[in-house]
Amino acid sequence: MNEKKSSFPKAWYPLALSTSLNRGGILRQTAFGVPLVLYRSKRGRVGVMSSTCIHMGADLSRGKVSGERLQCPMHGWEFNTNGKCEHIPSASEIPDRAQQIALYVEEKNGIIFGYLGGQPNASLPDFPAEAYSQTSRITVMDFDTPYQVLASNSYDAQHFSTVHHRPLVGTPKVFVNSPNHYGVSFRASVGGDGYNDRLLRAIGVHEVELLADCYGGNIIVATSDRTSTYIMFATLPVTETSSRIFVLNAITKKRAEKIPTIIRPLIMEITHRLTLAFLHHDIKVVSDLQFKFGILLPEVDEGFMGWMRYWNSLPTATLFDSTLQVDSPPNMAGVHAAD
Ligand code: FES
Ligand SMILES: [Fe+2]
Repeated sequence: MNEKKSSFPKAWYPLALSTSLNRGGILRQTAFGVPLVLYRSKRGRVGVMSSTCIHMGADLSRGKVSGERLQCPMHGWEFNTNGKCEHIPSASEIPDRAQQIALYVEEKNGIIFGYLGGQPNASLPDFPAEAYSQTSRITVMDFDTPYQVLASNSYDAQHFSTVHHRPLVGTPKVFVNSPNHYGVSFRASVGGDGYNDRLLRAIGVHEVELLADCYGGNIIVATSDRTSTYIMFATLPVTETSSRIFVLNAITKKRAEKIPTIIRPLIMEITHRLTLAFLHHDIKVVSDLQFKFGILLPEVDEGFMGWMRYWNSLPTATLFDSTLQVDSPPNMAGVHAAD
């Protein structure tokens, strides 16, 4: 087995939809260039670990869930959700090194996230506290392009005009709350011919103010004050050159309270569709795009260059640095996404 040791920023990464993993279910998902196995125990806990069995390399995703553990199909070793072997059918002693590489896991907003890099040093990025708890459905898309292309998109000032027909008004403002965070706010005029732009203009929105907060170099929470809407883009490097993005929306509690409960799901669906219509323009151009630094112009590419400096400054890890002592879950109380 010769798995490539690619490194990525230590951060929370989206791995799968919660609904794709029922109790007793097993999923195989390549992430960071390495095959992972996700399983949900009979009591509902999720374990995420290398799919390659530490014993002799069998593929654990071909095994089965046995109570709280995942059983290898080859010799029946059983691993708990922390990747620790707890049962070997033909041996009474279990060596300490019988431990799968495993990730800390959290589920939020319908997504299973794993932390690359051992003990998390930041809590899972989320919508702001002002957001209404009922979020939209989640759209998942795959790209044959490095995940940085997707994660940096909100920082590429030039493309708002050329791709989205939303020329910026004034100069974007950059703000940084912590080493884990990179934020930008800007105003743009709504000038496109697409139905979402026409709809916005029809309801009197001619200019939008957007705020994009990036956490861990891969999860972006965008806020539109004008429409009281949030978008989360959670990106995953499947390999160094391919990626997956999870897109979902929330609205503010204030806005939700003004909408009758019965039509809130419809409003969330419309919000999500408008987001997808906006992203449609990106999808057309970023598919197969390579992440190349050809000629960057400091005057107009500063936002993108700033994001790259931030991304390059993040501490990195490979999945193989993630051999954890994960017997007890980390105490995340008091740790915030921007820490
Ligand atoms: S290869 Fe998995 S238990 Fe032997
Ligand atoms: Fe875009």
